[in-house]
Amino acid sequence: MSAPEPPPATIRWLRTIRLIAYGLAALLAVGTGAALWLRHDAGVEQRLGGMAVPPSVSIGGPFTLTDHTGAAVTEASYRGRLMLIFFGFTHCPDVCPTELQVIAEVLDALGEDAARVAPLFVTVDPERDTPEALARYVALFDPRIIGLTGTPEQIAAVARAYRVYYAKVHPPDATEYTMDHSSFVYLMDAEGRFAGLFRHGAPAAEIAAAVRAQLRRPGA
Ligand code: NI
Repeated sequence: MSAPEPPPATIRWLRTIRLIAYGLAALLAVGTGAALWLRHDAGVEQRLGGMAVPPSVSIGGPFTLTDHTGAAVTEASYRGRLMLIFFGFTHCPDVCPTELQVIAEVLDALGEDAARVAPLFVTVDPERDTPEALARYVALFDPRIIGLTGTPEQIAAVARAYRVYYAKVHPPDATEYTMDHSSFVYLMDAEGRFAGLFRHGAPAAEIAAAVRAQLRRPGA
């Protein structure tokens, strides 16, 4: 005696229910994975101040440039000091002067600790921003700010490392070109590692607080 075969309609039903169950299990697994990944991402963001940056995004790296005195420098020239880096150009009508003013305020707010910070202004317009032009320009804001320029290839490389966007633009009503550029302030630790990212317009007090927090870290 064998058990009676279930009628074909019941078998189809059982298969449908099994498919639905598998589908739900798969959705649940994917959903849980995504939730865990997002939480992981938010939990270990790589910053001490400013904007959040996902850990998968690398910012910074080696560079070879020329400072406003004409000396050849690399990132190692500033090792042991924090770096506060801003990219721009001396012909900038608005954003760069405002941001350099903020960086000068940060240095003032830091008092003696400012000596432990290298404030770097890297040009995205090496064609016009010679060391001499940069020397004149940074002195307008704070004599401690260091202007950096280089060959177009060296500037492209440092911009790539810091994920800086820049492009030459020719406004139709202007005789001279101008530059479009992203305008974040980067804080790097004494080993040259990324430690903070600040939007254009971030107050000097916020940046100074992040610098102080970084200087208080063991080994800083
Ligand atoms: Ni600018």
